[in-house]
Amino acid sequence: MNLQGLYGAVPLSHFFLRERLLPGDRAIDATCGNGQDTLFLAGLVGAEGKVWAFDIQAAALSLSKERLEAAGLLGRVSLVHAGHERMAEFVAEAVKVILFNLGYLPTGGQEIKTSASTTVAALDQGKKLLLPAGMILIAVYTGHGGGEEEWAAVKAWAEGLDPHEFNVWQSRQLNRSKKAPFLVMVEKTPSQLFWRG
Ligand SMILES: C[S@@+](CC[C@H](N)C(=O)[O-])C[C@H]1O[C@@H](n2cnc3c(N)ncnc32)[C@H](O)[C@@H]1O
Repeated sequence: MNLQGLYGAVPLSHFFLRERLLPGDRAIDATCGNGQDTLFLAGLVGAEGKVWAFDIQAAALSLSKERLEAAGLLGRVSLVHAGHERMAEFVAEAVKVILFNLGYLPTGGQEIKTSASTTVAALDQGKKLLLPAGMILIAVYTGHGGGEEEWAAVKAWAEGLDPHEFNVWQSRQLNRSKKAPFLVMVEKTPSQLFWRG
């Protein structure tokens, strides 16, 4: 049983990852940062699975490498020093999950952060890489400069997805500040049989 508590967008994303990501699956961490989410994904996909983890910060990737190496999971992870907007150049296989933890690294400078145009470019590529029943999970932060603009772009992208093809959800904690991070979930429909319009 998971006793970690659903105290925010990231634990909620992990809750869904535990349900959806199975041993042998492929996954993308679009915002590797210090590698905590990458480590979690690498554990779930197992020895036969694979994770691609993108970040534009070399220092963050090298910390992630150490973290994965210490856990004995580096072999199943490709650490990619490139923006996630170049995802399709590096990932040629269909994937079960793509995780975005937007914003900036709390341990790094606030000026290095995700942005509306590159995030939407990555989401566009990601939706094409997704398997049926696969999920894109996006932890969204609006409290920093540029966060609201990025959210407006992500929201427009998500609202434009065809409901025959994608189930799109937003999950927000009602008893926290309006600036608290929240989760957007995009599931590629496993089957169109149950669509109700
Ligand atoms: C909130 S942090 C991610 C935290 C991370 N998932 C972890 O477990 O530590 C956001 C990360 O996105 C990265 N980032 C910003 N723009 C990016 C881009 N275009 N492509 C990939 N990563 C980017 C930042 O460098 C930062 O490390």
